Amino acid sequence: MERIRVRGGQRLEGSIHISGAKNAALPLMAASLLTPGTLTLSNVPKLADIATLASLLGQHGVAIDLRQNGNVVDGGQTLVLHAPSIASTTAPYDLVRKMRASVLVLGPLLARCHQAKVSLPGGCAIGTRPVDLHLKALEQLGARIELEEGYVNAEAPGGLKGGRVRFPTVSVGATENVMMAATLADGESILENPAREPEIEDLARCLIAMGAQIEGAGSERIVVQGVPELSGADHRVMADRIEAGTYMAAAAITGGALTLTGTNADTMGAVIDAFESCGVSVARCNGTLDISRRSDAISPTDITTQPYPGFPTDMQAQFMALLTTASGASTINETIFENRFMHVPELMRMGADIALQGSTAVIRGVQQLRGAPVMATDLRASVSLVLAGLAAEGETTVSRVYHLDRGYEHLVEKLSACGADIERIAN
Ligand code: EPZ
Repeated sequence: MERIRVRGGQRLEGSIHISGAKNAALPLMAASLLTPGTLTLSNVPKLADIATLASLLGQHGVAIDLRQNGNVVDGGQTLVLHAPSIASTTAPYDLVRKMRASVLVLGPLLARCHQAKVSLPGGCAIGTRPVDLHLKALEQLGARIELEEGYVNAEAPGGLKGGRVRFPTVSVGATENVMMAATLADGESILENPAREPEIEDLARCLIAMGAQIEGAGSERIVVQGVPELSGADHRVMADRIEAGTYMAAAAITGGALTLTGTNADTMGAVIDAFESCGVSVARCNGTLDISRRSDAISPTDITTQPYPGFPTDMQAQFMALLTTASGASTINETIFENRFMHVPELMRMGADIALQGSTAVIRGVQQLRGAPVMATDLRASVSLVLAGLAAEGETTVSRVYHLDRGYEHLVEKLSACGADIERIAN
């Protein structure tokens, strides 16, 4: 397996183009199942998770034509997805187990074909990650659901019916699944306490372009009027706000100055506020963010992860890496996932001073991190180790970089273009 080797101490300076958002592209790809028309998605990041979902959609009968983006700087790719008919309504375990977002085919298959057999995704490193909220929400739209031998057997004879869904806790995936299903249900559906992430709004924009009738995406109440059929559409995937936040942390932890292009600061309020509370200056100008440290030290701060518009759990590990170098003690309270501190022991191997108390981490800043061999455990944990390596004295090698490839397009190239001493090495 490959590793990433970082030699720390370089101030990052330069410009990084932010790719399309993985967590917007995945549900958008699943939406191709809803229509016999052609769905063209541009600004799709080139990531392992995208390829995984593409192979799952392929066995459902979605023809996918991949058009490389000629402009290497912008990266990305355009996917042309076309499912004139559905070849199979079964999503098999060997594909679903690779990526839990595969469960997003459930709602669209049920809506279009009135049946679906989708493997339960199983947990992952950061938690058990059940899908009970997805299933309960679809039952509110008339689906009959049984769990059998690790599969969700769902059917809706005569099609889904509009219904009222009240989410007991916020779920991004469940909101996406049932919003997609509701577009073809007979009648009106009301989703209360849905997720409000920008990726939900991006999905709604695309569905509306396909002919869906959706109001309130991004708010605490979404209303969907079902329509008999959806058409194809062209849609550009929104910028990845988590990738942008990750490179903001790279600028801050190295005391550098980066310009991030292709971003949308409107989706990053809590993240920008958190950086500014630590003494990092963030200048917004249209689709560009200029990041630089205002003083020599990073100030400590306290973070609690929350559903949007709160501080995103997907930025927790990256921000912790930054806070290990702050001039004092900080706390991070992780409220979304039950096991999202696996980067902590690895950061401690690099000299970080972190104490865990249940869902709260107390991070006491240290003068200097030290390079070490460390192991990636999940997507965001792995990038937090790269960030720490950028600031550490000496050499850090991060193993199991396949975690990184799931969510960061051209990470090594983007960082080395701004002065980082970083490379991929074969084991
Ligand atoms: C999405 O996952 C993202 N993934 C995650 O990003 C992100 O961390 C998460 O939302 C929260 O923002 C994609 O969009 C592909 P949830 P999702 O349903 O939809 C519990 C990354 O690093 N829950 O909002 O799976 C769940 O266990 C990934 O890019 C249930 O209990 O997250 C968690 O504790 C990691 N039952 C909480 O809700 C359910 O049926 C939030 O999960 C569903 C979720």
